[in-house]
Amino acid sequence: MNENANDPGRCFGVFGDPVGHSRSPDMLNAAFAAMGMPHRYFAFHVRPHALANALAGARAMGLGGLNLTVPHKRAAVAHMDRLAPEAARIGAINTVLIRRGELIGHNTDGAGFLDALAELGGNPPRHAVVLGGGGAARSVVDGLRHGETAAEVVWVSREPARLPALDGVARCGYGDLGEALAGCELLVNATTVGMRGGPERFASPLPLERLRRGTRVVDLVYPRAPGGLLDEADNVHARTQDGLATLLWQGVRALELWLGIALPASVVATMRRALNR
Ligand SMILES: NC(=O)c1ccc[n+]([C@@H]2O[C@H](COP(=O)([O-])OP(=O)(O)OC[C@H]3O[C@@H](n4cnc5c(N)ncnc54)[C@H](OP(=O)(O)O)[C@@H]3O)[C@@H](O)[C@H]2O)c1
Repeated sequence: MNENANDPGRCFGVFGDPVGHSRSPDMLNAAFAAMGMPHRYFAFHVRPHALANALAGARAMGLGGLNLTVPHKRAAVAHMDRLAPEAARIGAINTVLIRRGELIGHNTDGAGFLDALAELGGNPPRHAVVLGGGGAARSVVDGLRHGETAAEVVWVSREPARLPALDGVARCGYGDLGEALAGCELLVNATTVGMRGGPERFASPLPLERLRRGTRVVDLVYPRAPGGLLDEADNVHARTQDGLATLLWQGVRALELWLGIALPASVVATMRRALNR
């Protein structure tokens, strides 16, 4: 390890359980190397019962920042000294900035999702359908509501009554999806369906034939599952994107927070290559 890696602010990482599959170390270490910085990023396997101690350790050792992944995004909120506005609205954090011993919780998933969506082209969507009631879905719904056009969102869950009631957001179950799909410009899968080790099918089949030609379909899951949602969407002439795009841009946003700079396009390109995108 570089002799400076443990200096305050030079060591970063992701806490998760499991964490071995995380693509973040490759992506972030490639960025540090491209900028000629001695900073390093590590994956830490932190079990739920150890989260509080692990965060206290990060604070005590002066780490520069952290990412949090499943299952820590919501639980970590209680351990922050401060929350950024989007993290407070969403009730979950994926990025921690550590400054002068303070833990500040952010959530870059929603903004990263919007950055990735811009790569698909087209105007910001005015009508969107978001599938799933978990943390990723909450970030996406928040991003869409607080983005450029404050999209009208249909939020779909197997138990819609359990979704929070939000302005501009209609809640619905899988049985009532047809009308919403026919009228939307964007469909987002923010469920675990299609994830390795996750469920293979939606609660009920999605009537994708209702989508208009050219509708954008984004699957937050990565890697893309052969024969999965995006293949089906391609068959009805949608414009598709897998979860690596959002992974890239939420990472760019996290790194910009930690370093306090806007990343040059060449560094973003390096991070993209590290993800094989
Ligand atoms: N690309 C990225 O950067 C990025 C960022 C964050 C997350 N993700 C991915 O997004 C996915 C969701 O993550 P998460 O943190 O939100 O997980 P989560 O909190 O566990 O939520 C997943 C949701 O999926 C829904 N679900 C589960 N099984 C289902 C089924 N058979 N049919 C329909 N819905 C089902 C459930 O919603 P209901 O119970 O409400 O139906 C559940 O709340 C994961 O694959 C994760 O890897 C990607």
